[in-house]
Parts: sequence; C-alpha cells; structure tokens
Amino acid sequence: MVHLARSRPIAVPPVETDKLIAELNALAAISDCPEPPPAVTRVVFSETDLRARDYLRSLYEAAGLEVRVDPIGNTFARWPGADPAAPAVGTGSHCDAIPHAGMYDGTVGVLGGLEAVRALKRAGFTPRRSIDVIMFTSEEPTRFGVGCTGSRAMSGAMAPTDLARLTDETGDDYDTVRQRAGFAGDLAGVALPAGAYHAFVELHIEQGPELEAANLPIGVVMAIAAPAQAEFVVTGEGGHAGAVLMPRRRDALSAAVEMIAAVERLALSSKSPDLVATVGRLAVHPGAVNSIPSRVGFSLDLRDIDGANRDAVLAAIEEETDAIASRRVVKVERRVLNADPPAACAEKIVDAVRRSAESLGLGYQQMISRAYHDSLFMARVAPMGMIFIPCRGGVSHRPDEYSSPEAIRAGVETLALTLAELAS
Ligand code: GLV
Ligand code: MN
Ligand code: MN
Ligand code: MN
Repeated sequence: MVHLARSRPIAVPPVETDKLIAELNALAAISDCPEPPPAVTRVVFSETDLRARDYLRSLYEAAGLEVRVDPIGNTFARWPGADPAAPAVGTGSHCDAIPHAGMYDGTVGVLGGLEAVRALKRAGFTPRRSIDVIMFTSEEPTRFGVGCTGSRAMSGAMAPTDLARLTDETGDDYDTVRQRAGFAGDLAGVALPAGAYHAFVELHIEQGPELEAANLPIGVVMAIAAPAQAEFVVTGEGGHAGAVLMPRRRDALSAAVEMIAAVERLALSSKSPDLVATVGRLAVHPGAVNSIPSRVGFSLDLRDIDGANRDAVLAAIEEETDAIASRRVVKVERRVLNADPPAACAEKIVDAVRRSAESLGLGYQQMISRAYHDSLFMARVAPMGMIFIPCRGGVSHRPDEYSSPEAIRAGVETLALTLAELAS
C-alpha cells in the first residue's frame, strides 16, 4: 500500500487494460502503411498524423484534461493539480511511426500516460502538482532527417532558426510544412520556460531483448545512449555499363560499398561493446541497370553509451572514408546532422520508479536505453527518468513488434504510482 500525501492511499492503480489496448489498436489503424495493422507508418505533419492527433485530442477531452498545442504541434494534456503554480510533472512519448513500423513504439507512452492519469483519477487521487501527458512532435527522424525535433526545440537543444531550416525529401522546410499542417505561432515560443517541470518520466517498450530474457516486467532506465546521424554523398563518374572498361571507372557505388564495409569493421573493432553503427539508407543515381553509378548517398546512424568513444569512431569513419575516396578517385562529402551527448536519469525518479515497482510486487532491473527518446532532451530541462516494459523477442521498428496487455498494464501501473509520488 502506497500512502501519498494529500490523497487516498493507492495499492494498485485501477488500470483499464482492455480500454487501453482498444485505443492502441484504434491508433494503429490510423496509418499510411500499405499493409494492415499492426504494420504502421505515420509520418509527422502528414494527413494521417493529423488524424491521429484528432483522435488523441478526443481521448484527452473525454478524460477532462486541458489541451495545449505549441507552435510545432507538441501537445500537452494537463490534469491540473491542487497547486497549479507548482512546476508540473510530465510524462509522454511520441505517436509518429517510421515506415513499416510496429504499433507500440511511443504510443504506449502516450496512451499509457493517459491511462495512468485516468487510473489515478478513478482512484480518487488529487495531485498537488499538475500532471501533463505530452505527445512530442516527430520523435522519429523519418521526414526531416533529425529525430526528436519536438523535444529538441522544447529543451532549447535546437534553435528555432535551425529547426525552421530543416528540409524534407521534397525540399520543403520545417516551418512551411508545420504551418501547412495547421500549426501556427512563433517558433521561439516552443522552448519551455525554465523550471516548467519538476520531473519528467517516459514509459516505453524496451525495443531490446534484455527484460524478456531476464523474465522481468519492468526496466528502470539509468541512462540513454548518445546518438549521432550523418549523411554521406559519394560522387564518381557515370557512363555506359558496356563501353567503359574497368580500369577507367570511378564507380560511386563500388566506393560507397567499400565505405559501408569500413563502417561495419570500425564498429566491430570499437573498444566499446555498446557501440552500434547502421547504414539504413542508400540512394543510387541514376539507378539504371546499364549505367555506372555516378552519385550515391547513404545514411549513418552511430550510437554508444560512451559519447567520447562514439565521437572517436565517427572521426575514424571520416578518416577511412576519405582514404577510400582518394584511392578510388571519387569525392566524398559528409554532413553530421546530430551528435548528441548521452543523458543520465535523475536519482529521484529512478528511486520513485523502483519504489513503485516494489510496491506493486513487480520485479525490475536497472538498464541502459540504447534507443534514443524524447527523454534524452527533456533531461536538459527537468530531472528525467524512463520505465521500460518488455517486448517480444526484443523486436522493434518492425510490424511484428509486440508487448502483451499484461506487460503494458504493469508498465502503466508503475507509471501511475511514479506520477502520483512525483506530483504529491
Ligand atoms: C528512436 O526511434 C531511435 O532510433 O532510437
Ligand atoms: Mn522508434
Ligand atoms: Mn520510440
Ligand atoms: Mn524513436
């Protein structure tokens, strides 16, 4: 039994799991993926994103929450506390989904955050601090190349001028696209005022295999790994696939393939076992079977818990790709889109999550988040913590991503008690 100041004691928050799962399914049906749910595609500022936002708003309003939308669509659904002037407690996550994604990444933190609030209301709890369920705009980098644009801007990690200038594949800039989607107001108004949040805690599926392997329902996150992303463009010389003899070629794709193999080799030989490198996008120009590739673009996603080692590997990749370009007489250009430091979770939130899991009789382990989350940026403006729940096989960013109703319920109960403690 947890006794909370100014409230009735709550043993187990009365989470309505069936209702929450039905809402997750309804949200998953709002998708641009050619395949049916649970395959989901939901790209920021698309028609589909806007329909998902309308659906969320209807749920927030039905729950009696006060909704505020900032100039880039970050959405705050507030349960006002008894002391509305006190810094609030925030929870939440994202609802955008990469192409061909699953239906739990992010959504469990938004709809689960809402259900945690509803459960606390049902239990008759009165928070002293207001509790905000936040839906961050564009956690995924799909459209603008950089992830967490909503929380980056909220935390001041990205200046409004830099945000406005990001462009999508069609060349449209962020500022134009958000206005076309109906979001108005000065971008300078996105940054949170200092001290706006007393605490921020995000519920998320683990996206890795550790909790399932340990047969534990709760992960208490201690830190979030440092992510970096870069774009490479290799320019060689095109020509006729039959007429240009091999010694004379400056094939951009052959050079890029060698560079990508070097990325894998450097990652495998890194001194940190946590360093991971992924080339997930390749664009070949002109892309004809009988034409030598003249230009190739590829992406790099590089992460480590050790930010300095991540930077050292990035430097080694730059050196190695330069050497390959010079040997093959092609040009390589690089653009680092982001190289963010890691974030540590705050002790007071880690302790609150642990206490909540213990009082519910739920086993837990402390762990690192290898994926990044909006919490990486919220940590810059508030004490931050994260709660992980297991997902089947550790699978994520795939349609077969799955967390069971029981796993989700355990996460939402833990979140609810954590919010209650932090808001008391
Ligand atoms: C977020 O989706 C990430 O790529 O870690
Ligand atoms: Mn994701
Ligand atoms: Mn996510
Ligand atoms: Mn993500």
